[in-house]
Amino acid sequence: MSDQENTEVDPSRGSFGTRFGFLMAAAGSAVGLGNIWKFPYITGEYGGGAFVLVYLGCIVIVGLPLMYAELIIGRRGGSDVFGALRNLTKKSGSSAGAALSSVAGVMAVLSGLFILSFYSVVAGWAVHFLGVSAGAIEAAPGGAGPTFTALFKSFEWSATWHTVFMIVTVVVVSGGINGGIEKICSRLMPGLIGILLLMLVYVGFTGGLGDSLKFLFAPSFDKLSMEAVVEALGHAFFTLSLGMGAMVTYGSYLKSDRGIVRDGVTIALIDTGVALLAGTVIFAVVFAGGKEAGAGPGLVFVTLPDLFDSMPGGTIIAIAFFVLLIFAALSSAISLLEVVVSFLVDRFGVNRKAAAAGLGVAIWGLGLLSANSSLTFGIPSALSGFLGEGDKAMLDVLDNLTTRVMLPLGGVLIAVTAGWLITKEDREAGFEHLDGGQTYAKAWTFLIRFVAPVLVLFVLLVKAEFISLG
Ligand code: PHE
Repeated sequence: MSDQENTEVDPSRGSFGTRFGFLMAAAGSAVGLGNIWKFPYITGEYGGGAFVLVYLGCIVIVGLPLMYAELIIGRRGGSDVFGALRNLTKKSGSSAGAALSSVAGVMAVLSGLFILSFYSVVAGWAVHFLGVSAGAIEAAPGGAGPTFTALFKSFEWSATWHTVFMIVTVVVVSGGINGGIEKICSRLMPGLIGILLLMLVYVGFTGGLGDSLKFLFAPSFDKLSMEAVVEALGHAFFTLSLGMGAMVTYGSYLKSDRGIVRDGVTIALIDTGVALLAGTVIFAVVFAGGKEAGAGPGLVFVTLPDLFDSMPGGTIIAIAFFVLLIFAALSSAISLLEVVVSFLVDRFGVNRKAAAAGLGVAIWGLGLLSANSSLTFGIPSALSGFLGEGDKAMLDVLDNLTTRVMLPLGGVLIAVTAGWLITKEDREAGFEHLDGGQTYAKAWTFLIRFVAPVLVLFVLLVKAEFISLG
């Protein structure tokens, strides 16, 4: 390995011990509630196959190029998301770049705070349902529907599980990269994939598989709206953990430029694979039980548990499913917190444990607003395209604000930075060792300079009604 590959590694920051550990942490960040809770229900709401196709297109055309961009910026910039962007734009002598990257950096850190605050509340619901499935918590009379409603409406319950989940997340991140994040994710991810495969085998016996595959993979374009396209694009960012520096931050703990292209592709493949697998399993259960696909956010908390209940070995399956959901959520929450923690540690020299604890409390506090479902905000009609219509709870406001606006916008800024505002050497460092690396580098540069930013901006502008499609 040449010295060049090892530029700017600061051993005091910590690093991943093994490539496998890095992959599990990064794939763990990507695979989360987005894959198992959100992907199935939005696919259900937007009608299945055509939505899935647009989502896959977004992953390939925008997600993959941005994945590499974030990892290489982190690796070469050798710092938290704010610092890494600044280091590289300064090095290239671009003052516009330095200014732009500061905006991107600040927005990334804010996205991390916002997302984790509501993410932890939803993850807490999974903890509650694990307790109910295992018989440790009493279900409300009438099954999962009333149980979910009671949980959703009870600030005390939602806040309790949110608190528990935040504490665990803080403890892991306090342990550092190698000793905390890598260690935990290397156990969670294989466990998660194992559970999912077992569930796939299970639904192979209980039926519904054919209908499920047809729903997910046979596109019917009449249901496809602009709304669905925006949702698919936003979800591609959310599910790959892009647009807010999670991959920049993890990339900064890599010791070499080598393998970054391959790793980026691997992470995206694992993430997409898990989403499709989870969707296949969930819709198989839904269709075998004669239920509707478009149940909305309650799909995995209302429709599924009732159906599990009537299936052979249902208790075990329900427990397995909620463990799966919690594993997925935890490894993502860890990465969300790490983005913000590394910002305080690298930028302001704050001690890691103090940063994790302090931020944990701040995010927990913000999350209490999402745990309180009776607190709603009237959305001005000018913003309803992005934030939803009418009165919205904090959880929805933050979910829509981050997924539909902040992550895509952050993605555009990161793409522009990677494409135009850093040196060619930094930009192409990950392609150097590949056979035909120059060709790949050219194709990637084209995508990240022109295609990704233009496409994302276009969708945002259409959505904001600056551009009308007639
Ligand atoms: N990718 C995670 C999921 O699919 C969410 C996430 C977004 C995590 C952004 C980190 C950063 O659930």
